[in-house]
Amino acid sequence: MAGIGGEDLAVVVEGVVKIYESRGERIVALREVSLSVARGEVLAIMGPSGSGKTTLLNIIAGVDRPNAGRVIVDGFEVSSAGGEELRRFRLERVGYVFQQHNLIPTLTALENILLPMALAGKANRLRGQELLRRVGLGGKERRYPEELSGGEQQRLAVAVALANDPPIIVADEPTGELDIATGERIVRILLEEAHSRGKTVVLTTHDPRVARMADRVAVIEDGRLRGVYSPSRIAGATGFGEVEAEKAVEAVMRRILDDAERRLREAEDRFRRGEVGIDALVETYTRVKALREAVREELSRLGITG
Ligand SMILES: Nc1ncnc2c1ncn2[C@@H]1O[C@H](COP(=O)(O)OP(=O)(O)OP(=O)(O)O)[C@@H](O)[C@H]1O
Ligand SMILES: [Mg+2]
Repeated sequence: MAGIGGEDLAVVVEGVVKIYESRGERIVALREVSLSVARGEVLAIMGPSGSGKTTLLNIIAGVDRPNAGRVIVDGFEVSSAGGEELRRFRLERVGYVFQQHNLIPTLTALENILLPMALAGKANRLRGQELLRRVGLGGKERRYPEELSGGEQQRLAVAVALANDPPIIVADEPTGELDIATGERIVRILLEEAHSRGKTVVLTTHDPRVARMADRVAVIEDGRLRGVYSPSRIAGATGFGEVEAEKAVEAVMRRILDDAERRLREAEDRFRRGEVGIDALVETYTRVKALREAVREELSRLGITG
């Protein structure tokens, strides 16, 4: 197959537009986004809250449909598919690690992994156990999700996404509210899937430390792709010149900082209203402080000061 959706490209997104209609209001979530991801590559999508990251992942995974544009994943035209064909695509070709990880609370860790396998007609206990070991949860197969830590639950969600050995893995803020060491561990599991097993990984994050571990970073703001750069150096890979990419990254980083400060103020308000304890507030302080430092460091690394 030549051109669009060629052998070496696992994901091709072309001119995708997504508009939500909500109570008479039209929200343009994606404005003609085009990008591609090579087989075996890890692409991080970075952008502030509401920029369209989850919408883009949903469209790649065939969970949501674009209003315009084409999406080809693993040679399959997702944007025009439907019915049983689309259902099998979602079950077998894409592993989705959701932002709010969707573990089933009444199933054990192992059963959570066996469920998507059973739906695809190939439940395999041994493979389930091997997946648990791969994400560092060996021996915890009989635990229920609530008996696992936040980081362990997130790793279980990754194992569930890998259950049917999909060539494409999409992960929506897989490191979410986790501390950086735990977050790094999850990203390393995803990197290994890509670099040692030839899987293609598309993940979203607002954390520059996570983005830096990816092969390339796509920066999205207000539903627009601002540029794609390789973490080691700014490179305009989507027709953006270096200066434009640099400016786009700076703008996005600043908005990510604003988001973090807002989360902190919300936490303070909740503390004042007695809805959360001092421990939760201190934890938010620590996370926001770390994120602030990471963003500052990233800005200075990119040669942007102030
Ligand atoms: N089902 C929906 N109905 C209406 N508007 C929606 C819907 N889903 C998302 N949106 C809007 O589309 C825009 C993009 O949302 P999206 O969830 O993709 O952002 P995001 O970058 O993932 O944000 P976050 O970092 O907070 O997860 C936002 O303005 C959001 O309010
Ligand atoms: Mg999101």
